[in-house]
Amino acid sequence: MTMNAGILVLDFGSQVTQLIARRLREVGVYAEILPFHTDSAHIKSLNPKGIILSGSPMSVLDKNAPNAPEIIFKMGVPVLGICYGQQLMCAQLGGKVEAGEAREFGRAELNITASSPLFAGLWGQGEAHQVWMSHGDKVAKLPSGFTPIATSEGAPFAAIADETQQFYGVQFHPEVIHTPDGKKLLEIFAKSLCGARGDWSMASYRDQAIKAIRDQVGEEGKVICGLSGGVDSSVTAVLIHEAIGARLTCVFVDHGLMRKGEAEEVVELFSKHYNIPLVHEDASDLFLSKLENVEDPETKRKIIGGAFIEIFDKAAKKIKGAKFLAQGTLYPDVIESVSVMGDNSVTIKSHHNVGGLPEAMNLELVEPLRALFKDEVRALGRELAMPETLIGRHPFPGPGLAIRIPGAITKMKLNLLREADAVYLDAIRKAGLYNKIWQAFAVLLPVRAVGVMGDARSYDYALALRAVTSTDGMTAETYPFTPQQLTQIATRIVNEVKGINRVTYDITSKPPGTIEWE
Ligand code: XMP
Repeated sequence: MTMNAGILVLDFGSQVTQLIARRLREVGVYAEILPFHTDSAHIKSLNPKGIILSGSPMSVLDKNAPNAPEIIFKMGVPVLGICYGQQLMCAQLGGKVEAGEAREFGRAELNITASSPLFAGLWGQGEAHQVWMSHGDKVAKLPSGFTPIATSEGAPFAAIADETQQFYGVQFHPEVIHTPDGKKLLEIFAKSLCGARGDWSMASYRDQAIKAIRDQVGEEGKVICGLSGGVDSSVTAVLIHEAIGARLTCVFVDHGLMRKGEAEEVVELFSKHYNIPLVHEDASDLFLSKLENVEDPETKRKIIGGAFIEIFDKAAKKIKGAKFLAQGTLYPDVIESVSVMGDNSVTIKSHHNVGGLPEAMNLELVEPLRALFKDEVRALGRELAMPETLIGRHPFPGPGLAIRIPGAITKMKLNLLREADAVYLDAIRKAGLYNKIWQAFAVLLPVRAVGVMGDARSYDYALALRAVTSTDGMTAETYPFTPQQLTQIATRIVNEVKGINRVTYDITSKPPGTIEWE
């Protein structure tokens, strides 16, 4: 594929590389991310309008520090280095990088010391603006041709430019939201300096994704797609169905950990509405027995992930000739679970659809949503004309209710949680709040509390309610229900769900909490 209207992002393994592409997509510019070690001939053949070098967990001073292919400095297109990318550009073009005395991490003030086409119409000389920094090393000497255009307390060369060659470098991260003008800066680079067009849309993503699926799967390849009832796997299935039609078979592994009524909905929608071949495996008893007495959240995820794949594998063998397994893995799952560079990033949770995959699984993965954030998946679903009730649905984790019952899981607890969760969601819908909330759910606490109902003493379970707002699931704020709304919800739950006599509301944001309790 050539990308002569777009920007090539070379990835050096930063956790936020995908955000660069996302920001460009948001301003309608097509961007493709390739690993730093991509072949020079391939880079040339892509004919990009400009190139961005990402950040990295590595140091330019490391012996095995990854380099950028020399070709990118000879193609006559603008290059923007971000953080490690800036330092690398300096090191490769004859400047000098050294270890800083102190790390500069978090919000920093950027002082604009010169006017530059990179800042045109955005930042003027003498102004100060907030940016986000994350670096230990810093540029100590500029390559010839470069001049500084901004400084910060920890970086004398916080932004640099060689305007003749159109090479630019910034020590800060324009792609993260903590650099409020960062998206504008990337837009200036892409559109004004590189001349990239701004007409890219989700419709183009859909066409590209369909083509990529066809390329990966081939003329005759058969794909199995695991359905979970959630937005991600549903969009994945419909997209693949558009790409290869009846060569897609959906497998719905009913692990018995779904919300109330969801299993039935999945079967109805995919086999009847979309007419996609569907294998329904009811494995709830198997999952429950494997999870018996298991308390540790990571162990739960691994068991569920393992059993999932086992059942898929069995189903796959029944579907003659299927060699591919489709999954609705999203970008936040990818960065929270694995690192582009190997073991440089910290694993926060091993999301079952990424980290829990057994090595031995003999199906090749098809993951068309891997570069997308949740809101982009929804936009893609709308592009595919999928029903709004499904597209607007709150995210639901692969391991389902199992990670909303801290401690050991029993059938009784599952039923209790399922009922309470259904009442909670119904109350939110009736109050017209469902679409204002990113994700709402109940957690059954491993605690029983004393209460009084009528004239009798009760000794029942306590429930925690969670509702958060978020744009991508990576950070989250507690939803600000009014006290009256919370009281009404709590009253309904205690009245309607026998076995729960106390309701609490979780007011922890992410970070420091995570959205799920486990
Ligand atoms: P956390 O709890 O990590 O959740 O803040 C972020 C988002 O990811 C969902 N989540 C999962 N999704 N498998 C999934 O498919 C998992 O193991 C998993 N754990 C968390 C969570 O519901 C939230 O939307």
